[in-house]
Amino acid sequence: MGKYLIAGNWKMNHLPSQAVSYCQTLSSEFSWNPDVVDVAVAMPSTHLALAVETAKSSGIHLAAQNLHWEEKGAFTGEISIPMLKDLGISWTLIGHSERRQYFAESDEDVLSKFKACLASNIIPIVCCGESKEQRESGKTEDHIRSQLKNIISNIEADAKFIIAYEPIWAIGTGLTASNEQAQEVHAFIRSLLKDKLGEKAKDIKILYGGSVKPDNIEGLLKENDIDGALVGGASLDPSSFGSMVKTASKL
Ligand code: PGA
Repeated sequence: MGKYLIAGNWKMNHLPSQAVSYCQTLSSEFSWNPDVVDVAVAMPSTHLALAVETAKSSGIHLAAQNLHWEEKGAFTGEISIPMLKDLGISWTLIGHSERRQYFAESDEDVLSKFKACLASNIIPIVCCGESKEQRESGKTEDHIRSQLKNIISNIEADAKFIIAYEPIWAIGTGLTASNEQAQEVHAFIRSLLKDKLGEKAKDIKILYGGSVKPDNIEGLLKENDIDGALVGGASLDPSSFGSMVKTASKL
């Protein structure tokens, strides 16, 4: 297994003026071994330009939370890959369940974003995950397979991307998937990757997200196919996020 990746997702929280001090606090109060763990924070796009230099000098990968697949044009309210690259940002989330649920983002949209990222050397963290109803009716694997099918069929052996498994019922609810439940789906995702990439599938990071907290992260990270975490609520406080980075750094 390679390095862990601990990624924060601020969603629509914090002010731009708080972004720099957050990065400073994280890096000054917590040290991590960069050979063991990568750290990323996905901030609202209004924050990125302000925080990019501090993040870079602190060893934090700054990520966008979304982008558009076209380079430019009449898409009011959207941000493009060239805009992010101009700032020095090379990571982004795509297909978060909140984008799918509240902004009607489809699998096709996520695929267009994915292709645009790969073509421009932006590392996408592609989110997938089932609803409570899908889990309870035994449709978890079918759903994950259908969300990832076109993504996986479009990858080449050297593609740089990350997958985040985030069961919708666990996001922001305090209900984390058990270590075993998460591992089971991660192993399934790994098998889908293996069908396309063979042994290289083990190099693709699969993050778990959904109510990850300082007191449950260690057990999740110890599972074979869990390569890191995507943390929402518990990433907002740099002390709580930093303690999770520290836990990963010691494993
Ligand atoms: P949560 O969010 O940690 O607050 O559950 C995770 C996410 O949506 O990325």
